[in-house]
Amino acid sequence: MLNIALPKGRLGEKVYKMLEKAGYSCDEITKESRKLIFTDEANGVQYFWVKPSDVPIYVEHGAADLGVAGKDVLLENRSDVYELLDLRIGKCRMAVASKNDYRDDLSKPLVVATKFVNIAKDYYAGKNRDIDIIKLSGSIELAPILGLSDVIVDIVETGTTLRENDLRVFEEILPISARLIANKARYKFKNTEIDLMTERLKKELPDD
Ligand code: PRP
Repeated sequence: MLNIALPKGRLGEKVYKMLEKAGYSCDEITKESRKLIFTDEANGVQYFWVKPSDVPIYVEHGAADLGVAGKDVLLENRSDVYELLDLRIGKCRMAVASKNDYRDDLSKPLVVATKFVNIAKDYYAGKNRDIDIIKLSGSIELAPILGLSDVIVDIVETGTTLRENDLRVFEEILPISARLIANKARYKFKNTEIDLMTERLKKELPDD
């Protein structure tokens, strides 16, 4: 039996549709329900619905053999897992954003609001820029508007949130997409089943 941690919500639904097309359909999963575990006896797959940011934790600890997580979540958690496949869905970018009229002042530390503390630290360490981090959990865009921070490090998908709040992308950090990940030890034991699923999913990838 393969255990897969899927991210709850829109991304998880897209992933499940890809799995279905790849031949791993599970009737039970499509029904409206609050169940968190679904077993597909025919294909020998068990699905867990977990909070998206927790997927790599389940996989790293071996509670799930496989999982699907955004590259943002993997980098932020510094997860020690195998990244098997870029699923080319859940595409967005990690960016630094600021008010339209913001100008960087290199004489003082940059105040950065974000929920991606590690990504922000790594990015500015790479630029040798001193920063002060303010960790927030959501609605990050408010921080520069209210003077809480100079900039934010956050996900930009359509750009609507920035636009509607008079903010702009100041610098691009990296492109993000969903990845199929595997627990390292489990991959050794179950590589045949895992490789088969990876190959089948490869055939269902959307065009770049
Ligand atoms: C994310 C991100 C931005 C928004 C970007 O927020 O933090 O706020 O999406 O999308 P857009 O470029 O298409 O407008 P999310 O919906 O995850 O909620 P959050 O406020 O909890 O971060």
